[in-house]
Amino acid sequence: MSSQPISIGIVGLGQFGTHFVELFQKHPLVKRVGLCDIAPDKLARAARRFGVGETYASLDEICRSDLDALVIITQPWLHAPQAIQAMEAGKHVYTAVPIITPPSGNGDEILEWCDQLIACCRRTGQFYMMGETTYFRPETVMCRKRAAEFGQFIQLEAEYLHDTWLPACNLIEVQMARTGLSASEVMQIGGDVPMHYPTHSTCAPISIMGAHAVEVSAFGYIYPNDSYFRTDSRTGNAFCHEVGLFRMSNGAIAQITESRRNGHIGHEGVVRVIGSEASYVHDAADEYRGTWITKTDVQPVDPRAYRDPLPPALADDLGGHGGSHAYLVHEFVSACAEMRMPKINAWEAARYVAAGVMAHKSAMRGGEMLKVPDWGEAPAA
Ligand SMILES: NC(=O)c1ccc[n+]([C@@H]2O[C@H](COP(=O)([O-])OP(=O)(O)OC[C@H]3O[C@@H](n4cnc5c(N)ncnc54)[C@H](O)[C@@H]3O)[C@@H](O)[C@H]2O)c1
Repeated sequence: MSSQPISIGIVGLGQFGTHFVELFQKHPLVKRVGLCDIAPDKLARAARRFGVGETYASLDEICRSDLDALVIITQPWLHAPQAIQAMEAGKHVYTAVPIITPPSGNGDEILEWCDQLIACCRRTGQFYMMGETTYFRPETVMCRKRAAEFGQFIQLEAEYLHDTWLPACNLIEVQMARTGLSASEVMQIGGDVPMHYPTHSTCAPISIMGAHAVEVSAFGYIYPNDSYFRTDSRTGNAFCHEVGLFRMSNGAIAQITESRRNGHIGHEGVVRVIGSEASYVHDAADEYRGTWITKTDVQPVDPRAYRDPLPPALADDLGGHGGSHAYLVHEFVSACAEMRMPKINAWEAARYVAAGVMAHKSAMRGGEMLKVPDWGEAPAA
C-alpha cells in the first residue's frame, strides 16, 4: 500500500501527552511535529525538551495550521468537542481516551457524543482514532490472532481495577492536577461512575471476538460510608465498583468489572477467555505471562511473541501500558498515511463506550436487562 508522510500536531502536553512526543517524532512516516498547549510553561518546556520549533498556543490556532492530523491528549472531558472541532478543520484526529464528558448520573450525553462524533466522521471524511491502550496490550493481540483456536467463544472476562487511593497513581491527585481544584473540592465533586470509563476492559471482548454487546445486566457495589463515592456529591454516584454481564452479538457472554475501590495493585484488560476448544487465563502477577489451556494440555505463554513488527526506530522503546504506546502511534500514523480507516475508529470506540453507559443504567435499576445501542460497522474508508 502506498504511504504519504504526514505532519502531526500534539495537543495537550501534560503528564500523559509528553510520553507520546518522541514516538511520533521517531516514526518514519511523520515528516513534521508541532506542539500545542494552552499553558505557556508546559508548551515552552516540552518544546525545549523535544527540540520542537513549531508551537501553537491554542487548539483554535493549531486548527488553522496546515498540519494533517492532531493527537489530542487534553483532559478527558474535552476530547469529544475538541475532536469534532479538529475534524471540521480538516484534520485527522486521535484522542487519548474515550469520548467522555464530565460525570453525570445517566450517561445519555455520552451516547449523544457518540452520535455526534460518528456523524462528524461521515460528514468530514476525516479519520478518528481512540488511543485505547488495551487494544495493543500483547495478550489482547495474542487472543485476537489465535481467535480461531478458541473454537466457539463462550465467555470472556476483562477488568479495569484502579483503586482511587492507589499509591502509584492516586486518582484524587490526578483529578487535582487535571482540574486545578483542591483535595477537598475534588472530594466534594465525588467519584466518577466506573462504567463511564470502561474502555480498558470493554475493548477486550469487543475487539478479540469481533462482536459487540447486545444487552446487559449489571450491579454496583456501595462501600459502607464511602467518603468519595456517595449520592450527596456532585456526581451523585455511590458505586465504586460495577460488574456487568453482557450478551454479545456472537452469542458469547462477556463479564466486565470496572472498579475504583479494591485491595489490588491494579490491572487493565483480559482476565480469562473460555472457548469450546481452548481457553486462556492471564497471569495476575506478571503482565507478560498467561496460560493457554486445551482439553489435553496446559502451557505457559508469553503473549509478546504475538506482537506485530514495528518500524525499527519505534521498536527499541515501546512505551507504557504493556508496550502499547508505540503500536498506537504506528496505527494512527499508518492509517492516516495510507488513507485507511484506523482499527480503533469512531464506530469501534462507540461500542466500547456504549457498553459501559448501559451497564451503569442497568446497575441503577438493580440489574434490569437493557439493550445496548450500536452504530454498526465502520465504512472501509
Ligand atoms: N491508559 C490510558 O489510556 C491513559 C493513561 C493516562 C492518561 N490518559 C488520558 O490522557 C489525557 C491527559 O491526561 P493527563 O494526566 O496528561 O492530563 P493533564 O491535565 O496532565 O494534561 C492535559 C493538558 O492538556 C492541556 N490543555 C487543556 N485544554 C487545552 C486546549 N484547549 N488546547 C491545548 N492544550 C490544552 C492542559 O493545559 C494540560 O497541559 C486524559 O484524557 C487521560 O484520561 C490515558
